[in-house]
Amino acid sequence: MKALILSGGKGTRLYPITYTSAKQLVPVANRPVLFRAIDAIVEAGITDIGIVVGDTAPEIKAAVGDGSEWGAKVTYIQQEAPLGLAHAVLISEHYLGNDRFVMFLGDNVLEGGIADLVTQFAEGDWNSQIVLTRVNNPQHFGVAELRNGQVVRLVEKPKEPPSDLALVGIYMFDRNIFEAVKNIKPSWRGELEITDAIQYLVDHGYKVYPYVHEGWWIDTGKPGDMLDCNRLLLETIESHNLGTVDEKSSLSGRVIIQKGAEIINSTIRGPAIIGENSRIVDAYIGPFTAIFHDVLIENSEIEHCIVLENCKITDIGTRIEDSVIGRNVEITRSPLRPKAYRMMIGDNSQIGIL
Ligand code: TTP
Repeated sequence: MKALILSGGKGTRLYPITYTSAKQLVPVANRPVLFRAIDAIVEAGITDIGIVVGDTAPEIKAAVGDGSEWGAKVTYIQQEAPLGLAHAVLISEHYLGNDRFVMFLGDNVLEGGIADLVTQFAEGDWNSQIVLTRVNNPQHFGVAELRNGQVVRLVEKPKEPPSDLALVGIYMFDRNIFEAVKNIKPSWRGELEITDAIQYLVDHGYKVYPYVHEGWWIDTGKPGDMLDCNRLLLETIESHNLGTVDEKSSLSGRVIIQKGAEIINSTIRGPAIIGENSRIVDAYIGPFTAIFHDVLIENSEIEHCIVLENCKITDIGTRIEDSVIGRNVEITRSPLRPKAYRMMIGDNSQIGIL
């Protein structure tokens, strides 16, 4: 069996972070979302992995390489434009050939991995199996209608949902999916939709089965969801310390201090993770915070945040919460007079001021 990870796309909902970097490489609990997808695929026993890439191909190739870090073989498939999930399948036919495969959206994280799903599909004679999860607000998702244990209909964001089973971004297919993606037409938004391709399979007598996932699943496509994912992953960490913590600092709860990090005269309340060579000086780091590598937090308080590499946050009088802070950002106090906010901010940034 092979795997196809979709790592192209525009990532508009994560502007401005995605102006300069691939959303799939944003670390949650200090490990990029895409690495977590590869972890789950390899853990399920699949090592032949195709990654669909778009404009951010160079960055993704530099980060993942040939896959040998995972004991896997990675093949890159260039998508000239983000023309839809089914388009990504269409252009991958030469790579996938006659193999059955798992398709995994590169910005999705699923609790517990996919080993059970892959085993079920390998043992069955189904043409497709789609991962579903129960949600409270099916109006906001693609929703599946089941009959006699099979999927009979998929509807996007239904006003009157036929069930509470939403599509997660993970699907199993055999080669009949190529017939489907070649026969569907682009939707109103100009994309070849994977839901239309699956509906084609159903309508043409192919067997499409559900896999109802228990546990959490997060599509990290929006900042709030990324923070939720970070929180859920931090809830599962075990403490360890590969850095230095001075005697004036106090750590409580589960805290990971990565290699070369220094904690000086600070309080860290876990679950939290401090990245390689980061310095926390005279500061408070609260629960559900992931500080990535080479960051300085000094004389400031921060909680429930993701801070990417090489940021400097110094002398902030008010606690920073619920924030995703991109790479190389500096937040510090303005000079006292004239009293003013002074900013140099990229397009589509969001700032909350007291
Ligand atoms: P989406 O989140 O649906 O799309 P997007 O990444 O363009 O984001 P936004 O809506 O914020 O602009 O994509 C889900 C995953 O699939 C994501 O990892 C990107 C990938 N993808 C492709 O590889 N090719 C495509 O044509 C599309 C639409 C998405």
